[in-house]
Amino acid sequence: MKLFVDTANLKELEDALKRGFPCGVTTNPSILAKERTRDFRPHVNEMIKLLTEYGYDIPLSVEVFTTDPAEMIVQAEEFLSTFGHYPNLNIKVPIGWNELTVIHQLRRRGIKVNCTCCMSYNQAVMAARAGANFVSIFWGRIRDIGYDAGSVVRQVHQTLREWKSESEIIVGSIRHIADINEALQCGADIITVPPKFFPQMCAHPKTDEAVQQFVTDFQKSLTAEVLPLPRRQSA
Ligand code: E4P
Repeated sequence: MKLFVDTANLKELEDALKRGFPCGVTTNPSILAKERTRDFRPHVNEMIKLLTEYGYDIPLSVEVFTTDPAEMIVQAEEFLSTFGHYPNLNIKVPIGWNELTVIHQLRRRGIKVNCTCCMSYNQAVMAARAGANFVSIFWGRIRDIGYDAGSVVRQVHQTLREWKSESEIIVGSIRHIADINEALQCGADIITVPPKFFPQMCAHPKTDEAVQQFVTDFQKSLTAEVLPLPRRQSA
């Protein structure tokens, strides 16, 4: 099981990197747009700088921002020339009939691809067959329209295992912590998580209670130790 960080925010990224658990980072055009105080290129390079400073060589997905497959190739080229110094750059390409040609072309050149926006079993298996390294299934968005995201992930997992496929399933579009737990049980290889959930994933009221009790008990014992002993009365 691997956890990716679904963010382009530098502080959120650094907070996660400091804690050692991230196995990858995913962005998308909407996530990048939130950080857009300037051109996205230096921003992504700042993300790469952080990853490098903290000693990570983990997949970083940057998504094309067009619906035109020819333009996707142009943008992928640009990402490679601007961010290609990072060895684990993944180009994120949405699933679609024409988009499969983009995935195939990039993979033939040895470029790593994360095929994104998969909402169904069919889409995910097509992406895997076209050679995507990662197949991103959008848990929350599937459930938004009343479909069972769990069965999509379970079926894709089973098929990829039967094929001995090298594609890994990323589950994204996480809305609740329960989504993470359920998606893992359905066979997701990776969950990409919005950073706001990470602190909650480490917390439990009974943990707070236990820690507080240990500290209080120990402090009480220290206070007892330093209390002056009653003086002996001289005869
Ligand atoms: C995954 O790679 C995507 O960035 C993300 O999880 C999309 O989720 P959303 O439904 O919150 O946009």
